[in-house]
Amino acid sequence: MKRFKAPVIFALLIVLFALLPMGATAQEDQGTRLQPGETAPKEENAPRGENQGPTTPTPPPGRAQPAPPGNASQCVGCHRTTSPGIVRDWEASKHGKAGVDCARCHGPSHAELKPVSAGTCGQCHSRQVKEFGDSKHAIGWDPKMTGNSRYKALAEPIQKLGCEKCHNIGYKFADNSVGRCDACHTRHTFSVEEAREPVACASCHLGPDHAQIEYFETSKHGTIYAAEGNTGRAPTCVTCHQPGGNHNVSLNLTFGQVSNGAVLKGESAPPIPMREITREEFEKNRKGMVDICSRCHSSSFATNYLATADEVKKKADSLIKEATDVIQSLYDDGLLPNKEKAVLGGQQLYSGTSQVESLFFKMYKYDHIHTFKGAYHMNPDYVHWLGWSEMQRSLTAIKSEAQTVRDLAALRGKGLRSSSVLLWVAVGLGGLGAILALLALARRG
Ligand code: HEC
Ligand code: HEC
Ligand code: HEC
Ligand code: HEC
Ligand code: HEC
Ligand code: HEC
Ligand code: HEC
Ligand code: HEC
Repeated sequence: MKRFKAPVIFALLIVLFALLPMGATAQEDQGTRLQPGETAPKEENAPRGENQGPTTPTPPPGRAQPAPPGNASQCVGCHRTTSPGIVRDWEASKHGKAGVDCARCHGPSHAELKPVSAGTCGQCHSRQVKEFGDSKHAIGWDPKMTGNSRYKALAEPIQKLGCEKCHNIGYKFADNSVGRCDACHTRHTFSVEEAREPVACASCHLGPDHAQIEYFETSKHGTIYAAEGNTGRAPTCVTCHQPGGNHNVSLNLTFGQVSNGAVLKGESAPPIPMREITREEFEKNRKGMVDICSRCHSSSFATNYLATADEVKKKADSLIKEATDVIQSLYDDGLLPNKEKAVLGGQQLYSGTSQVESLFFKMYKYDHIHTFKGAYHMNPDYVHWLGWSEMQRSLTAIKSEAQTVRDLAALRGKGLRSSSVLLWVAVGLGGLGAILALLALARRG
């Protein structure tokens, strides 16, 4: 009996052993970094069309209280107790002094409260509304935010308090007017002094993907401003971007525009989607900016500085090109999932991607931007340590990860082959064991 059992158990054990590496390979397949693209979040098609611009478009039903039609002093009288801060700010403002009362902006009674739109301000400030409408601030909401795949992939609360609170600077109102005029001069002082301070821009122009306030604050211009205040000796954001009080902040920009900037039309193909400008636009806009610098610098000093910043931008673009080539060859060889859905650049998702795409996200969205926007804002630290050197480190990581992806694919190919050889050896051995056992049985019988 004992002599019969031992060879059978031995044969079964060998078969089991041969199967083990197969199981392990299958598990590794599920956990590998080549797969995660499959879990990319679903994109909704249509943006939500609700009114997300003003904080208080209309009072909720039932809360509206009777207020005397158009009687400002009564609005003020009652609000002095219900919201004293608002009345204090308004009274101190030019509006308060000029008699532009609550009802002029909000409507004559609680029953008729309307959203305070750019059109409302435009009744008395049409020039500013027009200039604002010519700037890219006016496209910040629609289509740039609402048409963005990252926006569409987000849950509503993140959209609302994440994207929308900055991009509502370009909110489109029901009356077709565009822009939240309280983005820089906040209610209810609506002060020009406040809007002229760099901090007025800081609540939006900060952070890893557009750190203009940080570039400025630690540039020579920003340090003079910090040491001496807004004396006019150093330029502020508004000196360079709203010359003469113009509300079109897009004036005089060339390659250093929003997002990943621009390239010269016909001269170089952008490695990821970027705007294109013509040579004429370049010359005209550059002259406009140098004219501003020339109030305090020689024009050759300013021209040379900005020309070098243009070269920094081109160098940074070429590193992006190197990275996209590496990733493109992975797509071409079918080594990354979702080739047809994959996008690099402005519409690229930051979640549910492969590791190599995620490394690229950091490179194009943070490192590239710091390098050239730091240069246009005279900040050597962002150009180099937070920009260029980070781009280089990201590129190294991308190349290394691409190699890992290739090695893993090669190994998996080999791994499968070696485990099937093992399987056949095991089956053979198992069969041999079984025959031996039968022979032993037969001999006993
Ligand atoms: C009898 C007192 C009273 C008068 C008069 C009055 N209000 Fe109000 N108003 C209130 C109260 C109370 C609220 C609710 C405040 C709150 O939610 O804390 C309010 C809210 C508002 C809001 C915010 C609505 C919202 O949904 O948050 C606006 C705007 C407003 N009033 C404008 C006006 C204007 C314009 C007038 C004059 C035409 C006016 N009020 C007259 C008491 C008054
Ligand atoms: C020059 C236009 C203007 C005037 C004048 C004005 N407001 Fe406003 N007010 C706004 C804007 C813009 C908003 C923000 C957008 C919105 O909520 O529609 C706002 C928002 C509000 C809010 C809701 C938001 C909050 O912070 O609670 C209240 C309440 C309010 N205003 C009350 C008043 C009262 C009271 C007066 C008069 C003392 C007044 N407003 C005068 C433009 C104005
Ligand atoms: C009914 C006309 C009227 C409306 C509507 C109006 N304003 Fe004014 N605004 C004025 C007047 C009048 C002045 C004072 C001009 C002066 O004293 O030089 C003024 C001054 C200003 C100033 C300069 C303040 C300063 O510190 O010098 C700003 C900024 C401003 N308004 C913004 C707005 C915004 C934003 C809106 C819409 C939310 C708005 N205004 C709606 C009439 C209006
Ligand atoms: C409420 C948020 C917010 C504030 C405050 C704000 N911006 Fe912007 N800004 C944006 C957004 C969003 C964009 C990008 C719009 C787009 O192209 O979709 C932008 C774009 C710009 C651009 C690029 C324009 C181009 O053509 O490439 C400049 C320059 C600019 N802002 C300057 C300023 C200045 C100067 C201030 C302060 C005086 C300021 N912004 C305040 C949100 C803001
Ligand atoms: C990006 C920030 C920003 C936004 C958004 C903005 N303003 Fe201004 N506004 C400024 C600055 C800065 C000044 C002062 C410019 C200067 O130095 O003379 C100013 C000045 C003004 C003045 C005073 C003009 C004068 O000659 O005294 C008015 C009126 C005004 N803005 C209205 C508006 C209106 C209406 C809107 C909405 C379409 C708006 N602003 C949106 C930044 C902004
Ligand atoms: C000394 C002038 C100067 C000052 C001060 C300045 N900028 Fe700029 N800004 C530039 C130049 C130059 C460019 C790029 C011009 C080009 O494309 O040729 C630029 C571009 C921009 C852009 C487009 C994207 C980018 O960064 O290239 C934004 C947004 C911007 N600036 C915002 C700001 C804000 C916000 C401040 C204040 C915190 C500020 N700037 C201060 C000169 C200045
Ligand atoms: C802290 C404020 C802030 C938040 C939050 C924010 N943005 Fe922006 N966004 C900006 C500013 C400022 C710019 C332009 C400055 C620049 O690019 O140098 C910009 C630029 C953009 C651009 C490029 C616009 C163009 O004309 O090419 C897109 C697209 C964009 N944002 C989408 C989004 C989406 C989607 C979200 C949410 C996932 C978001 N942003 C969150 C402030 C913000
Ligand atoms: C309102 C005056 C003013 C304007 C406008 C201005 N600057 Fe400056 N800038 C200064 C001052 C003052 C300094 C400090 C000079 C020093 O470092 O001794 C400075 C410093 C600099 C520096 C660093 C110092 C150096 O020698 O490298 C650069 C670069 C620079 N500015 C470039 C520009 C450019 C480019 C523009 C236009 C886009 C510009 N500035 C606009 C006043 C200005």
